[in-house]
Amino acid sequence: MKKIAPSILSADFSRLGEEVKAVELAGADLLHLDVMDGHFVPNITMGPIMVAAVRRVTKLPLDTHLMIEHPEKYVEAFIQAGSDMVSVHQEACGDLAVVLKQIKKLGVKAGAVINPATPVKTLLTVLDLVDYVLVMTVNPGFGGQEFIRSGLVKVQELVKLRRQNKLAFEIEVDGGINLSTLAEAHAAGADIFVTGSGIFKCPPYVQTLQQMRTRIE
Ligand code: DX5
Ligand code: ZN
Repeated sequence: MKKIAPSILSADFSRLGEEVKAVELAGADLLHLDVMDGHFVPNITMGPIMVAAVRRVTKLPLDTHLMIEHPEKYVEAFIQAGSDMVSVHQEACGDLAVVLKQIKKLGVKAGAVINPATPVKTLLTVLDLVDYVLVMTVNPGFGGQEFIRSGLVKVQELVKLRRQNKLAFEIEVDGGINLSTLAEAHAAGADIFVTGSGIFKCPPYVQTLQQMRTRIE
């Protein structure tokens, strides 16, 4: 099933509970939470306390995207806070396989993320471990950036590798997803579409989500 995952990074944080409920009611499939530490990326966003607060107001699965150094130190806290999926960057992990196994052992879905400059081949040894691969289509750090098209080729490569190796991981795209880039990512074979400003800066949410849905069905 194709899934749309609003990223709360572009929501109004002073009304976060209402914003989360609004996208849930509008038909979101997942909620994407962007965790940034000011080291791996230049921006700082939220910690486990925020994930726990979101957990209290929604039943949607929480897709936590860790853009942090030493993610192995924090995955447990983010899972205890209520994450259902946790993804870590290939570029941030000394041993990616070890961190992915750590996440899976704690009972949630594990994702591996690659930046625009990181090739798919860096994931070859972990593809049989991951529940999903997140292909960044912007350089991580901020919402509202322009879609980087080379991510589409990576999505196609992953579709091919999944088929060749008879695997079942999902492919997620994140960054610069709006109505038109969503259609391109869908055509390339992506399964999960993260959208921050594409939804939160485009009210009414119901209408925007419906329009997005028509592009992927
Ligand atoms: C960027 C984050 C994205 C961001 C996407 O570092 O990982 O999830 O929220 O925002 P938009 O959809 O506005 O590019
Ligand atoms: Zn993200």
